[in-house]
Formats: sequence, structure tokens, C-alpha cells
Amino acid sequence: MSPSYETLLLERRGRVAIVTINRPDKRNALNIKTREEGAALLEQLRADDAVGVVVFTGAGDKAFVAGADIAEFAGRTAMMQRDVMAARSLFTAIDTFPKPIIAMINGYCLGGGCELALACDIRIASENASFGQPEINLGIIPGGGGTQRLTRLVGEGRAMELILTGDIIDAKTAFAIGLVNYVVPADQLEAKTMEVANRIAEKGPIALRLAKEAVKLASRSNLDEGLRREVDLFALCFSTEDKDEGVKAFLEKRKPAFKGK
Ligand code: COA
Repeated sequence: MSPSYETLLLERRGRVAIVTINRPDKRNALNIKTREEGAALLEQLRADDAVGVVVFTGAGDKAFVAGADIAEFAGRTAMMQRDVMAARSLFTAIDTFPKPIIAMINGYCLGGGCELALACDIRIASENASFGQPEINLGIIPGGGGTQRLTRLVGEGRAMELILTGDIIDAKTAFAIGLVNYVVPADQLEAKTMEVANRIAEKGPIALRLAKEAVKLASRSNLDEGLRREVDLFALCFSTEDKDEGVKAFLEKRKPAFKGK
């Protein structure tokens, strides 16, 4: 039996697992429990061959995630905070997850919420979503990858402005600067997300995993190293049954049936 979680909901739709952060009264703010449960749930989904794609979202229609749980910051020392970040980081668990992860963003996507979305592979937002790194207003800075991942995604000038001002931007602006892949009306958010998720979930799991690994190398290595590793990962695909099936299906003018082998 699957373990149950206090702060998360899990729903399976075909090969897509939808993880809902379920603290709507607190605008789905990330407390220690949510982070621990999120990392544990991802470990469970990592090992589950029936899951091809994961979608992260927030409960209710107000927030995706409104950041770290600020109430937990009160009275916390530097060393305590360091331990919290080091122990089972949800952001690292997302970043190193071998299957595609989509953030379905339905409201406030702030601070640690924006960092959670940034750790995902694709971001799809409703028109009423808003984005920001408002940590500066609390006398702190982003600590869940915001200074690094936001900068890589939207460039130093945009990231610097968002992080230094703490300003909140709307979904259209987030789209314009490349922070999200799509903006859709709120009533179409789920359908659009599922359409993208299902399209990806049909592909070969090993090729997806290697493609994700290769793309992530682009911002973590120099060009020569990245190109070398890409060739290795590309060649590795030739050891799979899925590659034989994909090529055969193309030549036979039919849809491939990938097995993840
Ligand atoms: N941490 C802890 N609690 C939070 C929270 C957070 N990041 N964001 C919202 N909440 C709580 C509020 O304290 C309030 O709790 P209460 O009902 O017990 O008083 C509840 O969620 C609803 O928040 P409220 O501010 O009344 O909702 P709103 O819709 O008017 O505003 C926000 C929503 C997100 C704009 C506002 O809550 C906010 O600015 N949150 C903090 C955002 C932030 O700075 N994030 C970065 C943290 S590092």
C-alpha cells in the first residue's frame, strides 16, 4: 500500500502522477513537513515504472505555492536553517528526478514556490498566476536555487531585477521573459497541462531520462564537455530496445510501442 501524506495529495491519471501541495489555508506554503514528504513521494514515484511524468500543483485556486513557510523562520538560527536546507531538499529531489516534471501554476508562485517551479522541467501557468522572489522584503535572499536557476532561465538582468526589488509579476510578463512555457485561461490550465504531460508520457522512458540529463548539462558544463556527454548519452540510446522499436515503427509507418527497455 502507498504511504499517505499529510500535506500532499497524489492522483494517477494513466502514466501521469499529479502531486498537489495541500495547504490551501496557508497558500500552500512549504513547511518542513511538505519538503520532507515531497522528497519522499518523489522517491516513491522514481521507482514506479507506471509513472512516466509528474505534475506538481497547489491546492485551491489562489496559490501554487506562496513560498517557504515564513512562520517557521521565526527564531530559527543560521545553523538550524542550514540543517533544514541540507536534509532531503525538495528542490534537489525535483532537480535530480529522472522523469519529466511539469509545474501547473494556478495562483501565487512566490519565493520557494517560484524556486520549486524553476526546479521543474516545464512551467504552465494560468492567467491569474503571479510570480516573484520577494525574500528581499523579509531581509533574506532566495535559498532554494532562485539566484541560480532563475538567472539561467531568464538572464541576469531580469533575475537581478526580480530578486533585488522583490516585485511580483503577472503571468503574461512571466511568459514574455521566458519564465513559463504557456499561459492559459484558468479553466484550461488542467487540460493544457495534461495534454503536454500525456504527449511526453507516450515517449520512451529511457530516451526521456537521457534527454533530460543532456539538456540539464547545458547550464552546468562548458560547450565541449556538454557536447561530449551528449554524444555518449546519444550512443547509449543505441543499447535500448526502445531505439530498435522507434526506428522499426517509423520504417513500418506505425506508432512505436516503447517499453522502457
Ligand atoms: N508562509 C506562511 N504563511 C503564509 C505564507 C507563507 N509564505 N503565505 C501566506 N501565508 C498564510 C498567511 O499568513 C495567512 O495565514 P492566516 O490565515 O493564518 O493569517 C494565509 O496564508 C492566507 O494569506 P493572506 O496573506 O491572508 O492571503 P492573500 O491571498 O491576501 O495574500 C500572499 C497572499 C501570497 C500575497 C501573501 O500571503 C504573502 O505575501 N505571502 C508571503 C509571500 C512571500 O513573501 N513568500 C516568500 C517567502 S520566503
